Amino acid sequence: MIVTIDGPAGAGKSTVAKLLAARLGFDYLDTGAMYRAVALAALRAGIDLNDPKQLPDLARKLDIRFQEGRLFLDGEDVTELLRRPEVTRTSRFVADNDDVRAHLITLQRQYAMGRNVVTEGRDQGSLVFPQAEVKFYLTATAEERARRRLREYQATGQPAPSYEQVLEELLSRDCRDASRPWGRLVKPPGAIEIPTDGLDIPTVVDRLEAIVRDVMTTTQRRTTQQSSPQPEDPR
Ligand code: DC
Repeated sequence: MIVTIDGPAGAGKSTVAKLLAARLGFDYLDTGAMYRAVALAALRAGIDLNDPKQLPDLARKLDIRFQEGRLFLDGEDVTELLRRPEVTRTSRFVADNDDVRAHLITLQRQYAMGRNVVTEGRDQGSLVFPQAEVKFYLTATAEERARRRLREYQATGQPAPSYEQVLEELLSRDCRDASRPWGRLVKPPGAIEIPTDGLDIPTVVDRLEAIVRDVMTTTQRRTTQQSSPQPEDPR
């Protein structure tokens, strides 16, 4: 079974998806981390980000794996490095490159094959897994998302940018995510929209879990009905 969670930056997708996957006993796929991993590798290799060929050539050579909620890049655990501001800034070049997207989409589909997965990103329900059994579209106002991001920055103990800076950066990421020619952020057809302003994380996860369990029960009931023998015609 595949559950997709899409939505803008700062809507709480990662936190919610991770918790939902744990509650359901599903695997969790953080596709943003894959884009970030390619960005980190590009920074390290010092390649020209504006050359449309160099990024995909590099991406295809990388070994990107998830293990127990950590991302390994060519065998190195880079999970913490992926959240660095320079990686966030560079990830847009990766996300805007169609050849890199095509490669990462192939990896995402391979990962999900034969598993129960909660997958999270921008294009999961619309493009990567249009056949997903449950699709969510998680939203929050830009102001609420900026407040959340600011709290995350402050929690790291590093010097935090101002609220205005965070808000401006989020709005420009929204703009880029929505205007990408391929794989842009849209509410996927059939997705359930969950506005999260004013809701705490456990409440959001409760809602999503209840919906998924409902779908699981309905699917199971249908499968049982289809596989149980039909009563004989008494005539
Ligand atoms: O969700 P995030 O901030 O970790 O995403 C990192 C970058 O990758 C961001 O530029 C959006 C992009 N991205 C994407 O284009 N498609 C996805 N499925 C996931 C992330």
